[in-house]
Amino acid sequence: MLEKLRQLNLPRARFARMIADPEKCDGCGRCVQACPIQLLELHEGRPRSNMRYDAFRCITCQNCVAVCPNNAVTVEGDYRVGEGFWKNTHLYPGEKTPPAPLADRAGEPWEAFEGELTETERVIYQRRSVRLFRKKGVDRALVQRVIEAGRFAPSAGNGQPWAFVVVQGRPAVGALNERCKKALKAAGFLTLPHPWLEKRTPGEPAARLKAWQHAILPLLTALKTGEVEPRARGGINAASSDPKYDIFFGAPCVILLLVDRRGVGDPVLDLGMCGQNMVLAAHSLGLGTCYVSLVKAVNFQADLKKKLGIRRPFKLVTSIALGWPRGTVDRPVAREQPRVGWVDRL
Ligand SMILES: Cc1cc2nc3c(=O)[nH]c(=O)nc-3n(C[C@H](O)[C@H](O)[C@H](O)COP(=O)(O)O)c2cc1C
Repeated sequence: MLEKLRQLNLPRARFARMIADPEKCDGCGRCVQACPIQLLELHEGRPRSNMRYDAFRCITCQNCVAVCPNNAVTVEGDYRVGEGFWKNTHLYPGEKTPPAPLADRAGEPWEAFEGELTETERVIYQRRSVRLFRKKGVDRALVQRVIEAGRFAPSAGNGQPWAFVVVQGRPAVGALNERCKKALKAAGFLTLPHPWLEKRTPGEPAARLKAWQHAILPLLTALKTGEVEPRARGGINAASSDPKYDIFFGAPCVILLLVDRRGVGDPVLDLGMCGQNMVLAAHSLGLGTCYVSLVKAVNFQADLKKKLGIRRPFKLVTSIALGWPRGTVDRPVAREQPRVGWVDRL
């Protein structure tokens, strides 16, 4: 029974590891800054895995690979859990692979077939979440242009169940970051080993969950599975224990995405498509974006919601950090094999 709880709350997992080639790496630190869960650190001028992490590691986004100007970084391994509630080893037939949209040319490098893809395909494969932003702001007209792309997303019953709040300028975005982090710390209190929060540094190998947390986590897992998923807790750990962590990564603009709960069918699905239209349009304009759902911490703060103008029937679902990328960020990366079932007779 206790073992079952352990597997649910802190499952034994294999994580990917970032490797920097010492011959190519010049210690610029871009990979360290781009890591969403602060998993990397510079040690003697070279990046390496942050040794303070134990249970929560790499989400294999490979932004460290994408942002490296010297092609010095690779990511080895995948996130795999062998047993228990979070088991996924049986779900993936192999390792992650780079984009291969042209079936007859699978295995060829991106540069070999990129020219044969449509512009839309190139945008889809090269877009990365941007976490390295320049200080320069984004003009209101461009923000409106990005939102306009969202307005023309498909939605069930053409219900268009969305609304937006634009938080403009670093002072406002910085204040929003601070308020979110405070609330995230409360989430960490419920779900993370306390020494990790108290040390105000990410991770602590010897830390253990408290008995009451072991009791509460199964309930949270049942009610809010995605919020306490082991990798999500890695993000909460970074955001709630590192005073310097900025959940918006210094972006000069954040667009809050709100759903109208009265929408037809599954309105959050419509909102997701609306957001992706915006992200792809922004990419095509040379802007960088990163979805930031840690912003949902706003939902627990009535005064902040009021200031932001978030009222029923609207609910904040996620946000898009928007700004000008610092250096090249966009590049194709490897992904898990798709889980596809083919059916030709029923
Ligand atoms: C709904 C949603 C919420 C996300 N929330 C966060 C977040 O709070 N913080 C963050 O750094 N990245 C966040 N991301 C970005 C993901 O980490 C990223 O999309 C994923 O690692 C794949 O990397 P890519 O976008 O570069 O392809 C979110 C993405 C989505 C779709």
